[in-house]
Amino acid sequence: MNLNNFKKIAKKILAVPFVRKFNNRFNSFLYKFLSLSKIFALPYHFIISHFFDREIFAFTRAVAKYNNNVYTVRPSNVIIRRNIHRLEKGMIMENRRAVFALDYIEETVEKYAEVLEKSNGVTLEAGEMQWAYDVLSEYFLITDSSQPLIERMKAKFEMLPKPTLQDPADKFIPYPSSQRNQYKIPSYEEFLSLSKRRRSVRWFQDKKVPREDVDKAMLAAALAPSACNRQPFQYRIFDDPQLAKEIAGIPFGTGGYSDNVPMSIVVVGDLSNYFSSRDRHTMYIDASLSVMAFLYALETMGLSSVVINWPDFGLLEKKMKKKLNLKTYERPIMLLAVGYAKEEGLIPCSKKKPLDELRSYNNLGETA
Ligand SMILES: Cc1cc2nc3c(=O)[nH]c(=O)nc-3n(C[C@H](O)[C@H](O)[C@H](O)COP(=O)(O)O)c2cc1C
Repeated sequence: MNLNNFKKIAKKILAVPFVRKFNNRFNSFLYKFLSLSKIFALPYHFIISHFFDREIFAFTRAVAKYNNNVYTVRPSNVIIRRNIHRLEKGMIMENRRAVFALDYIEETVEKYAEVLEKSNGVTLEAGEMQWAYDVLSEYFLITDSSQPLIERMKAKFEMLPKPTLQDPADKFIPYPSSQRNQYKIPSYEEFLSLSKRRRSVRWFQDKKVPREDVDKAMLAAALAPSACNRQPFQYRIFDDPQLAKEIAGIPFGTGGYSDNVPMSIVVVGDLSNYFSSRDRHTMYIDASLSVMAFLYALETMGLSSVVINWPDFGLLEKKMKKKLNLKTYERPIMLLAVGYAKEEGLIPCSKKKPLDELRSYNNLGETA
């Protein structure tokens, strides 16, 4: 069924009080029953609801892609990123051991060698390559090379050609915390003021968003923390006026205002960064942390924004996948609308919860 027709029909049906009440009652009864035991809940979702099917299949494709990626060369490599990050963590230990990383140093050096040897003109992005080279060089300098595996890997590493470095004057290795003092900290009052200034804006001027400003905000977004430094997401930015509106109109949450969006962004997560289902949620966390930095940075340049929910809903996913040519293992995480706020446009008050509801200290919870 056509997505817009579906949205219209669903809205109309749910507007009938009897239907809405019946739907709520039925749902409440169904979930009360399902929650009695996994014996009811799991077959329901596998056999009847199929709510989780797309996520499971996307994850399955992702692991296949991850395993394939072990043998391929791309501008960024997930194994190198993760393992070099782990080596750096080993290096910063206060009581650093002379021997560490034995469980993954071989994989790291082999992958690094493979990238160098198989590159055929395709290399890792220069910064990532130098990071790998500098950290591995440091690792072999500070570890005990009489340990047989380290000795073997060191010999292999030293045989490899030196890559082209992004910044030969610099070394991309751990550094003392005090080095950060070169960066000025805004006052708490300034930061709180920025936080108060940022509100979800849905009414924008018909004015182009400068790409230079978006890129500046992206530099801040790129600095956000991410699990194992994987950064498993990409911002797909649309500033073509037609595309921006069309894409902003795909999710449910933009009814009534998608037509005035000058720039829309789909934050797409890449599940193929993971070899295990245990990490499958981190792409949502990583992307959200980066989005928050992005939004604050935009705000410093006078640009407003709203986050738009991406519901896990088959018809929507199908439409977005087709529009953006997404692979099965790539999933939209959220959308953003960005622009210059219309001065007269209204903003919901969106009263926040009091501190006591949002935080507690040393609270071990209540026993059930
Ligand atoms: C994950 C997420 C999904 C959201 N989805 C929508 C949406 O679909 N449509 C919309 O207009 N606003 C959406 N918002 C904006 C929220 O309504 C808004 O952040 C909230 O009401 C608080 O208001 P504030 O951002 O002005 O503080 C979303 C926000 C988040 C974080």
